[in-house]
Amino acid sequence: MSQPLFNRVLVTGGAGYVGSALVPRLLAEGYSVTILDLFVYCDVNLPYEDPDLRVVTGDIRDQELVREMLQGQDAVVHLACISNDPSFELDPSLSKTINFDPFEPMVANAKAAGVKRFVYCSSSSVYGVSELEDVTEETPLDPLTLYSQYKAECEPILLSSQSAEFEVVILRPATVCGYAPRCRLDLTVNILTNHAVNNRNITVFGGSQLRPNLHIDDMCDVYLLLLASPAEKIQGQTFNAGEQNLSVDSIASLVKKVVEREFPGDPVGIDHSDTNDLRSYHINSDKIASALGWRPRRTVETAVFDLCNAFRDELLPNSLDDDRYFNVRVLQSKAN
Ligand SMILES: NC(=O)c1ccc[n+]([C@@H]2O[C@H](COP(=O)([O-])OP(=O)(O)OC[C@H]3O[C@@H](n4cnc5c(N)ncnc54)[C@H](O)[C@@H]3O)[C@@H](O)[C@H]2O)c1
Repeated sequence: MSQPLFNRVLVTGGAGYVGSALVPRLLAEGYSVTILDLFVYCDVNLPYEDPDLRVVTGDIRDQELVREMLQGQDAVVHLACISNDPSFELDPSLSKTINFDPFEPMVANAKAAGVKRFVYCSSSSVYGVSELEDVTEETPLDPLTLYSQYKAECEPILLSSQSAEFEVVILRPATVCGYAPRCRLDLTVNILTNHAVNNRNITVFGGSQLRPNLHIDDMCDVYLLLLASPAEKIQGQTFNAGEQNLSVDSIASLVKKVVEREFPGDPVGIDHSDTNDLRSYHINSDKIASALGWRPRRTVETAVFDLCNAFRDELLPNSLDDDRYFNVRVLQSKAN
């Protein structure tokens, strides 16, 4: 990993799934980290004792607070949002006030505060369904859901704000998988592993649709690299980041294989069910490999193995029933 160019990094959504894995990595690299997060889903086991970590419970919609948080920061990694389709659809107007409305003022405030680099986490779902063999960063966007649409609509706002003093970069990650201190079990690989370990059975909805996947530690490597790369390599750039594009059927077979090996016993059954969610995308990550030298170092299989270890070590208690692992369930219960 290259040397950091910056000291102080604000991570919005730093108590989320990705954030809870990324923040310890940033601290280990020597960054001073401030988390701004509303802790929507649960308490999170963060390294609170680290003197280089400041954790602020607050809302990105509160621009006064955001302005205050931005003072003295060198870089921003913007992760906070309502982070999947079903959660967004629970209350689209409210979700927009989080995922879209605060974005432009936050970017303007970051620039005004002298932040040098702004890293925006978009999503590979902005491409929608594509039959193309290679969905590159040049492929026209076709977001099929409101979540993806607003992810996409933030991108040009950020790009138009770039200047020599304000470096901007956009990432379109694949679906993340594997264990993190605040773990989501509502993402394809993680759902299937949870069910295989704890139900000895998996239900596959559809099966042929392709999903691009990315191990959470590789996801963190990308953010570290985007912070550590010289401006000329990242300024105004958009990068896909994914590892294996696998069909959901292949993911299920892989999960079955690893879980049967790690937890010997009855075979893990696989049932099939119809789905109307046949979103299929196949992303190409050659650009980030050639521009920044990033290549994934882990696989989906590693992610399943890591999750098996976490289950064995009782780091994911009550994983079928506790709402904390499922964003939509938490938001639903808050709405009621
Ligand atoms: N996890 C994936 O597979 C994946 C794939 C592509 C892109 N992304 C993007 O990566 C980012 C992080 O995803 P994640 O999986 O960690 O999601 P997550 O839901 O686990 O984390 C999001 C965090 O944002 C916080 N948050 C929500 N609303 C807030 C508000 N108004 N103010 C302050 N904090 C708020 C939540 O409390 C949560 O900790 C998101 O932008 C997501 O869209 C994730």
